[in-house]
Amino acid sequence: MLNKEGSISLNKYIIANWKMNLLQKQADNLIEEIISTTPYNVQIVICPPFTLLSRVGNKITTSSIELGAQDCSMEEGFGSRTGDISAKMLKDCGAEYVILGHSERRIYHNESDQIIEKKLKAAINNALIPILCIGESLEERERGNFEEIIGKQLKVLEAVNTEFFFVAYEPIWAIGTGKLLNMQEIAQAGQYIINICQQRFAKKPKILYGGSVNSENSYGILSLPEIDGVLVGSASLDTKIFIEMCKG
Ligand code: PGA
Repeated sequence: MLNKEGSISLNKYIIANWKMNLLQKQADNLIEEIISTTPYNVQIVICPPFTLLSRVGNKITTSSIELGAQDCSMEEGFGSRTGDISAKMLKDCGAEYVILGHSERRIYHNESDQIIEKKLKAAINNALIPILCIGESLEERERGNFEEIIGKQLKVLEAVNTEFFFVAYEPIWAIGTGKLLNMQEIAQAGQYIINICQQRFAKKPKILYGGSVNSENSYGILSLPEIDGVLVGSASLDTKIFIEMCKG
């Protein structure tokens, strides 16, 4: 949605997924640059790796930028789960959002829909806003059954008993490849997800698009009425490009 000045309006989201990137000093530089360029017309959410969560959280306290994590344990609270970080711990660090079911976790950590469903419950029980990632592989798109695939991935929403959450549609073949759906296809996919969520789960999530989003295509994507925001990987690590995107 555009505001009167022709820039993207505040109710659109730009969510930065830093993935497994940045050391402390690099993160400081990036976040300080972003903060010093405020105000923005969009809601920015930064999802750093766990090691930087508190550090980034402390830096953004006086800004409008919000904090998210990239994953959480399927177990709640505390326990003997070496290497895991629970939703409770993320909340304690200041996170308000958590990305779940990203394709990189589904692929490299064999995360199934059952695991993702447990994580969703853990996140919601600890008052984190989930960002559920879904998307088809190139093979699945070429076979023409991507709607069936994302329909199946959405089944975990049966576990969601909250009104405010995100579904990020990220075709796997578009992540980090520079390949992008055209605007009409992005709008159609967004509408398809909205329809499923309403018909099957009586829910109205916010819809994000992700996969090779950058300063050249973000404005067009954010202008689509079906899309509430973008989930940005590599372009969120480039100070100049990221600020350009956020400025609309
Ligand atoms: P990309 O990653 O912007 O680098 O394609 C997006 C994502 O994986 O969330």
